[in-house]
Amino acid sequence: MTTVRTLQPNDARAVVERIVHQLSDDARRRPLVNAHLDGEVLYETILHATTSTWVAFDDGTVVGHLYGAVLGDPTHALAAWTGPDGASFDDADVLTQLVRDASASWRRAGAAQHFSWTLDDDEHIDPWRSLGYEPLSVRGVMKLLERDVRALPAGLSLRAARPADIDQVLELDHVIDVAQGEPGAVSRKDRHAIRREILELLEDPEVKHYVVEGDGNVLAQAITFPLPARRGSFDETLHLSEVVVHPSVQGHGVASAMIDAVLDDARREGYHYVEAQWRVTNEQASSFWPRYGLAPTYVRLARSLT
Ligand SMILES: CC(C)(COP(=O)(O)OP(=O)(O)OC[C@H]1O[C@@H](n2cnc3c(N)ncnc32)[C@H](O)[C@@H]1OP(=O)(O)O)[C@@H](O)C(=O)NCCC(=O)NCCS
Repeated sequence: MTTVRTLQPNDARAVVERIVHQLSDDARRRPLVNAHLDGEVLYETILHATTSTWVAFDDGTVVGHLYGAVLGDPTHALAAWTGPDGASFDDADVLTQLVRDASASWRRAGAAQHFSWTLDDDEHIDPWRSLGYEPLSVRGVMKLLERDVRALPAGLSLRAARPADIDQVLELDHVIDVAQGEPGAVSRKDRHAIRREILELLEDPEVKHYVVEGDGNVLAQAITFPLPARRGSFDETLHLSEVVVHPSVQGHGVASAMIDAVLDDARREGYHYVEAQWRVTNEQASSFWPRYGLAPTYVRLARSLT
């Protein structure tokens, strides 16, 4: 019979072993997953997460684990988060029991949703799906190799964004919201906060904000920054985000040429990989990124806790 309880220090070694094994299995199935992890660091981390890690046992043997950190910020409701190393289970029943116990605790902590990253294949997703989880977004990765940089259509050029671009950049952000199915009207207060955020980004030396200009108008943008260390990702990975092309010039190779140039810069600066994320419901992005060359690695699943 399977039993579940929160982690005790004695369980930590067995849980680390499961995570090491799982990550190397993920990397075998998806070569753009980085299997490297420091077992000792992970062991220490787990010992500090005893109250947010659940462990399942069968006859005294560890048969699964589930870690979930309840996080939130002023703009996002509290949610429980599980990374690619945060769950392992020998079968779907073990996952069911882990999720049941953990969800009760997350609800008590005020979380309204649980997000969990898992490998992007049916075998990994199905046990979650049977519990009501649905894919929300995909993480795609590509190795940066020297390749030809396609030219932008005539009359368009790439440059760094400037504070004076702010209003047109805000319009492009709205295009992303619409593509993601979040076209809600932005209040003046939010608009002010977003404006301030973008202007701050322009000052951040680690962030690069590229725009494509044509006829004095900002027609496309991409933002890049070094991806912070995270499980399953390689060091020297560039994170590419907020990629958008104005609807009036979509489908003419603007994004392809812009990203070619951005990634050529990144490769010369020493980056080896690029990662981006997109919503599964965003049809343009779901078609564009794999065609461009990003291979899905992990998918973020979501389930309401209320
Ligand atoms: C995704 C997006 C950035 C692509 O921009 P784009 O400039 O239209 O992209 P491209 O023109 O380079 O490629 C788009 C399509 O046009 C085709 N295409 C490329 N060059 C072309 C050309 N010269 N003539 C005709 N078609 C062309 C490509 O094959 C591509 O097809 P695919 O989408 O099936 O892969 C754009 O659709 C967009 O801004 N969407 C809304 C915001 C968004 O979703 N952003 C991504 C958030 S993760």
